[in-house]
Amino acid sequence: MENIYFSMDTKVYFGRDSISAHLHLIKKLGTKALIVTGKKSAFESGLIDKVTGICSQNGITCVLYPGVNPEPDISDVENGALVCREEKCDVVVGIGGGSAMDAAKAIAVLATNPGGIRDYFGEKDYTCLPLPVAVIPTTCGTGSEVTRFAVIMDREARTKKTVSSEKILPRIAILDPETLTTLPKHLVVATGMDAFSHSAESYLSSKADYLSRVFALESLKLLWKYLPMVEEDKKEDARSNIFLASLLAGLAINRTGTIIVHGMGYSLTVTRETHHGTANALLLPYVFEYLKKNGYHNELTELEQIWVETEHLKDFVKKLGLPSKLRDLGITEADIDGLTELSELGAQRAVKNMKMLIGNKEFKEILLSAL
Ligand SMILES: [Fe+2]
Repeated sequence: MENIYFSMDTKVYFGRDSISAHLHLIKKLGTKALIVTGKKSAFESGLIDKVTGICSQNGITCVLYPGVNPEPDISDVENGALVCREEKCDVVVGIGGGSAMDAAKAIAVLATNPGGIRDYFGEKDYTCLPLPVAVIPTTCGTGSEVTRFAVIMDREARTKKTVSSEKILPRIAILDPETLTTLPKHLVVATGMDAFSHSAESYLSSKADYLSRVFALESLKLLWKYLPMVEEDKKEDARSNIFLASLLAGLAINRTGTIIVHGMGYSLTVTRETHHGTANALLLPYVFEYLKKNGYHNELTELEQIWVETEHLKDFVKKLGLPSKLRDLGITEADIDGLTELSELGAQRAVKNMKMLIGNKEFKEILLSAL
């Protein structure tokens, strides 16, 4: 039987009203919290007021660091760390989607360590322990609440880079399905397809083991069933199950990382500002079509217990209202060489999770098929 590795230092609270029930636990991590969040949605939904209210009742002072970009970049992190140090915060709380949570994790590193965040891309040793992090996700895709990754946009390098360390795993993750009720349908679907991509890629990663495949498969089953049921009427059951699936997908990729779909997807986000989940959803069937013919026949046949055949996966993406071809994004053949180069750059780490070498020629072939 194969070996299994599983480690999880995150206390996960999933369920209705879990914010009211468990947010007070932050006081075990610190007494002055830097609240890292985006520009609008957590304010408009009343979530920030709710969080700061509960914190204040429990003797925790809050310092707001709002305005993190949808694709958090170097300046989001470095400015946040400055505020964190100046205000002497001792805990960082990320509230929002992957952007806020990843920024919070990266800020926690820089708040106690010298240099800039570029010094910590990859798996680096830290002089000092990062500040403890707590998170409250408000989208249903990233899984960042249970991963050791913080993905940061490096605009100079024209790709996303990852800070990776067990030391940035959130200590507390509170998933309250109530937070999803104000999320527009198109974002439930796009972020849900990010989770779908996490699980499917995780399943194919050379680091996958029995347990990560259990998480990945269960997540895919939930997403395949519930994503088509998301309605603007905010069907609670569908959204809660997609939320749960994104948590399972996070547990899977924390073990395995992703493969090339994510790395390739970055090329669309960098050049077209395509939503991260939308980019993955578009590329996923074409990557799998290629891989099934090139070394992954058995694994993809196993995954076809979910979608039966790749054509169904393409239909699934299309019926969710997402672009299903590169041409839908206005991309032409003239753009393919540039996207190939950026795919290679974006997938630098992920190719290590593949069982064979994959490079320029292969990326180009996949991109042309997705055109
Ligand atoms: Fe992702």
